[in-house]
Amino acid sequence: MINKNEQKEIDLAKIANLCKRRGFIFQSSEIFGGLSSVWDYGPLGVELKKNIKDEWWKRNIYQRNDIEGLDASILMNQDVWKASGHLTNFADLLVDCKKCKKRFRSDKLDKPNCPDCGGELTQPRKFNLMFKTGTSSVEGQGQDIYLRPETAQGIFVNFSNVLTSSRRKLPFGIAQIGKAFRNEITTGNFTFRSREFEQMEIEYFVDPDQADKSYEYWLHERLNWYLDLGISKDNLKLRQHKKDELAHYARNCHDIEYLFPFGWSELEGIANRGDYDLRQHAKASGKELCYFDAAKKEKVVPYVIEPSGGVDRAFLAFLIDSYNEEKVKSEKRVFLKLHKKLAPIKAAVLPLLKNRPEIIETAKRLHKDIMSSYKVGYDDTASIGRLYRRQDEIGTLYCVTVDVQSLDDKKVTVRDRDTMQQVRIDMSNLKNYLDDNLKQ
Ligand code: GAP
Repeated sequence: MINKNEQKEIDLAKIANLCKRRGFIFQSSEIFGGLSSVWDYGPLGVELKKNIKDEWWKRNIYQRNDIEGLDASILMNQDVWKASGHLTNFADLLVDCKKCKKRFRSDKLDKPNCPDCGGELTQPRKFNLMFKTGTSSVEGQGQDIYLRPETAQGIFVNFSNVLTSSRRKLPFGIAQIGKAFRNEITTGNFTFRSREFEQMEIEYFVDPDQADKSYEYWLHERLNWYLDLGISKDNLKLRQHKKDELAHYARNCHDIEYLFPFGWSELEGIANRGDYDLRQHAKASGKELCYFDAAKKEKVVPYVIEPSGGVDRAFLAFLIDSYNEEKVKSEKRVFLKLHKKLAPIKAAVLPLLKNRPEIIETAKRLHKDIMSSYKVGYDDTASIGRLYRRQDEIGTLYCVTVDVQSLDDKKVTVRDRDTMQQVRIDMSNLKNYLDDNLKQ
């Protein structure tokens, strides 16, 4: 079967080029030659990223009544990482080429020699992925601390704080969006595997008896979130981890995979972490981390179901999935068919003639009228054909054109991004028109 993304023949270079040209994503520290696998989000990138995070937050915190939000710090006591197992287990097995000195993950190699130059490889060595830094109020006496490699641990160590302050009963969840850092060795594929990235994680605490049921529920709930925001069904699938693939804390895990241009790859992981984390932290800290079940009159250490997604990977998948090219009057039209909730700019006001002050004035007034409700663009720096192409390429849903006739009939033309159909509406009705069409 030919898949949608294969039919579209999207290559990642095309997406990366669009991102740079139109201000979605730039290489970090670019003027100094960059920093490998670290990225900056530009003016449109921050909007798209914010919309993704807002949709996740709305769905998981506002539109249900069993999950609380949290924003824990990136830096934590080093004992957290001893207890969680990350200091010992969060490592890749690496080999170095003795000839060209390149480094590879040994689990990704299918031949015994260097894939680049054929040279001899060293024996595999464990390499911890956490970035180390330190506190240093007194020279030489600080402690080693780490940039968190997952947001999850900030949730586990706050389990009792949230439980007590919110007076929750099982089942309930704690959700967090935040930065995580990993000293990744296998990088490349644009932002897919970055050294600094953002996660959207839920730790959902359940009675151990309910863990399997809850796990099934979250698999489908999370898959549906991507589908509801417009990702094509053909480009998403669930894949269960094999036993030898499971992380040190996981009893079961499925990845939601997306068909990226470089093949099926992980977008989000949903794991059953059992009671591993709460027990580990309780043992190491000496503080009880459990729930008192008043009905059963007993203490329970809840199991944890963890849907853990990457903001940057979701961003890349939404961008790739929405990328479209078509021929219009023998010219190529590129447009991002982003879901209306995700599109960085909802509408753009475009004056047809730049040398007519009344047209410019009317367009600027319209822009001002609607900008308090939506992220709206304004552009008068090119011909209308080029202005449309620019807006299509960044996924703007509606282009509102003010022309000579608008001065007489007080109407504007509104063009739909996907169908390119145009309707003429009263200027005074523009806000209502957008409200109706962009309704959440
Ligand atoms: N707390 C569980 C956890 O961190 P993970 O599978 O290692 O599990 C979860 O990471 C998600 O975080 C991944 O599915 C991916 O979306 C994102 N992620 C992980 N490493 C990443 C990286 N180096 N760059 C971008 N996103 C990453």
